[in-house]
Amino acid sequence: MLLEVRNLSVSYGNVSAVSDVSVHVEEGSIAAVLGANGAGKTSLLNAIMGVTRAQGVVRFAGQVISGWSSARRVSAGIALVPEGRRILLSLTIEENLLMGAYQRRDREITGDLTKMYDLFPNLARRRNYLGSVLSGGEQQMLAIGRALMARPRLLLMDEPSLGLSPLFVREVFNLVRSLNSAGLAILLVEQNTRMALQAARRGYVLKLGRLALESDTEELMKSDDLTKAYLGDDVTVKHRLHA
Ligand SMILES: Nc1ncnc2c1ncn2[C@@H]1O[C@H](COP(=O)(O)OP(=O)(O)O)[C@@H](O)[C@H]1O
Ligand SMILES: [Mg+2]
Repeated sequence: MLLEVRNLSVSYGNVSAVSDVSVHVEEGSIAAVLGANGAGKTSLLNAIMGVTRAQGVVRFAGQVISGWSSARRVSAGIALVPEGRRILLSLTIEENLLMGAYQRRDREITGDLTKMYDLFPNLARRRNYLGSVLSGGEQQMLAIGRALMARPRLLLMDEPSLGLSPLFVREVFNLVRSLNSAGLAILLVEQNTRMALQAARRGYVLKLGRLALESDTEELMKSDDLTKAYLGDDVTVKHRLHA
């Protein structure tokens, strides 16, 4: 098992955001975390990355990393594509990419930059332009490229398709699949339930900070449980608003 999260809880003062959640990601596989707004998805990913304080045990590649700084977790092979992309608009595209490699001391960073430009030709053409010239979809690609520059074994992705045009949503999911085919394990947080379940092997549904459902995605897609676990919140209403 590459990632094992056991009985993880996150609270902000008196607000409990995640309660007693256990998830795992097998080496080289995709797991999806689903749930409505406020369910605790971002808090879970941030806790795994070590940028939010949490209780519980996080084990990665055989080591307990729960006490580690986020920098050390990056070096160990975990990278986060944060919610809302968090591109630095006043830095160039290349500088944004290089930020992902800030922990590295090896000589292959330039080679990896070239790989990113092969993967994202839109970024290559404008490598010396500021991040602000990019569209939302291109910024998402840059955020993914920046995370890949850390050479992760596990990629945490927080709603990578949110707010993107259908074309870019497809592109994000194609990228998720192709990165995974190349061996990268991915923990994918999404509100695009159907596409996430199609891409993932295992699915988890969070509801009000608790695990409402977990199963192999094939089972999840067949059962009514998903609808039950998911609805009852205002998810359908929200989808209608966004449509
Ligand atoms: N920095 C914070 N301070 C206080 N409460 C927070 C903070 N971040 C998130 N929360 C609360 O924690 C809960 C879970 O939020 P979050 O993890 O962002 O959920 P999701 O990503 O599923 O929308 C929500 O009730 C949210 O309001
Ligand atoms: Mg979130």
